[in-house]
Amino acid sequence: MKEVGKLVFASGAIVKASGLKNAKINSVCFIGPKKLLGEIIKLENKTAIIQVYESTKMLKVGDSVLLEDTTLTAELGPGLLGSICDGLQRPLKDAGMFLEKITNANKLDRKKLWLVIPKKTGAVNKGDVIAETKETKTITHKIFAPISGVVSIKKGNYKIEDIIGTIKNKQEKKKITLLTKWPIHKQFSKGKYITPKTLLVTGQRVLDTMFPLVLGGSAAMPGGFGSGKTILGHQLAKWAAADIIIFVGVGERGNEMADVLTEFPEIEDEKTKEKLMARSVLIANTSNMPVAARITSIHLGGLIGEYYRNMGYNVLLIADSTSRWSEALRELSGMQEEMPGEEGYPVYLASEISKFYERAGVIETDAGIVGSLSIVGAVSPPGGDFAEPVTDATKRVVECFWSLNADLAYHRHYPAVDWNNSYSNYDIENYEKLGAIRKSMTELLQKEKDLERIVRLVGYESLPKKDRFALLVARLFRENFLQQSAFHEEDKYCTKEKQHEMIMSFAALLDVGLKKIKQDKDFEYPKEIIDSIARMKFEKKDSFKDLREKIEACDV
Ligand SMILES: Nc1ncnc2c1ncn2[C@@H]1O[C@H](COP(=O)(O)OP(=O)(O)OP(=O)(O)O)[C@@H](O)[C@H]1O
Ligand SMILES: [Mg+2]
Repeated sequence: MKEVGKLVFASGAIVKASGLKNAKINSVCFIGPKKLLGEIIKLENKTAIIQVYESTKMLKVGDSVLLEDTTLTAELGPGLLGSICDGLQRPLKDAGMFLEKITNANKLDRKKLWLVIPKKTGAVNKGDVIAETKETKTITHKIFAPISGVVSIKKGNYKIEDIIGTIKNKQEKKKITLLTKWPIHKQFSKGKYITPKTLLVTGQRVLDTMFPLVLGGSAAMPGGFGSGKTILGHQLAKWAAADIIIFVGVGERGNEMADVLTEFPEIEDEKTKEKLMARSVLIANTSNMPVAARITSIHLGGLIGEYYRNMGYNVLLIADSTSRWSEALRELSGMQEEMPGEEGYPVYLASEISKFYERAGVIETDAGIVGSLSIVGAVSPPGGDFAEPVTDATKRVVECFWSLNADLAYHRHYPAVDWNNSYSNYDIENYEKLGAIRKSMTELLQKEKDLERIVRLVGYESLPKKDRFALLVARLFRENFLQQSAFHEEDKYCTKEKQHEMIMSFAALLDVGLKKIKQDKDFEYPKEIIDSIARMKFEKKDSFKDLREKIEACDV
């Protein structure tokens, strides 16, 4: 039921209205003469507290507040892929340099025709796939039964609001359309969670081999200013073995985000040779957009991710940066005069962060469809201080932590993933053998760190031969395995098989070398072997068995 109330208070994005007897939490309101979009977030005696998604400039006490009988909804349906929108799903296609001109146009294209193929007729269960339409070359969009009952759908070309068929049972009869309106804050996924175990291949050696993420897992990439978060995010978007990419850009400066909006759609999908955008959704909210919309952008991304996961796809959601999102929470909390927690963030910051990452997972729906949603969030701690609340709260919920180090970035070691501070708690299927090798290489890097201190004190030449050798292998491993160029034709993507072969070769080099040195302290590998080890990453092959044989065969 619609109702009109009066504005009694306004401070930034928060306004209060009186006279709304039917006010409910999450109801939508339109405020003032310009009908600014708002949402009720709190009720206090006879006053409704509303967060406004647009600039509240020029509002005055006494302005009308129109209460709608709906909640804030997202539109789910074919046409989502390839879309570029803000946190409220408003199209940003023509928003311009500073993303000012957000249109209030329809969220999804109303005119486009989709060829709908019925998949089931007769009795179906809620959640069954009852029809399909090809959304892009690679993605088939599935339509689910909204209730259990008898379904009838006619093949044909439909617009998203057209009725494609009906479903009825004893209690109700429903018309089916391609468009589903879903509350932004409500989870879409229902089903059984399955423990994630399958590696999400990203093609980045330091991630896949050293700190692996799984399909359906969550990872954080914290890093100070300029440490390479955005580039790594783009690398993941380009290469990760996911069917669908959702990129949420939160709160960066307007012109920077506009760069992303112009650059991202240009990226070519190296796998399908189409534009990457064809299987992506880009959600952008800049620091000059109203604060409340910045907060929803992350939830909208999560919801769209869950929607496609239900269709059985592997979805990867990348949020850059969750720190700006947390700052938006802080700003809004301040406007509501809530009791501040650590560093002014709201006391519920940690629970908000965990709600976001908890959307990740592998799910089997009631219809037996298995899909995954993996989440990677960039964190930009001020001054690179990882002890601050956002990094700390994130660390508690994610299982994979890719710590980006400004010092490595300064020395142009990219991706600047710090092997001393990063970790992954995931157990990857069939990774037992690799686990042992990974451990020995991690120990080697640790040893390098310890030895460096000694070198500074007594000099390199005073080290025993075996330690000098360990330092050599550690350096080779850092420069030729961990370091990976985003721009070199062969090196930019490394298959899982090649990664394994490479790390096995480094391990062999270390093992055999140490054994030989024990027998003969003057042992040196021939230069050819060292050169081959350093060249592996640029070579177009997946096996280095021959190189390992040469290492084994090295005579003292
Ligand atoms: N993998 C890489 N290969 C080569 N250069 C890189 C790589 N990653 C980052 N760089 C360099 O570092 C610069 C900064 O990277 P990026 O913008 O990703 O940092 P950021 O952590 O997102 O910074 P901010 O904190 O400003 O958001 C890039 O412009 C690029 O020159
Ligand atoms: Mg960045």
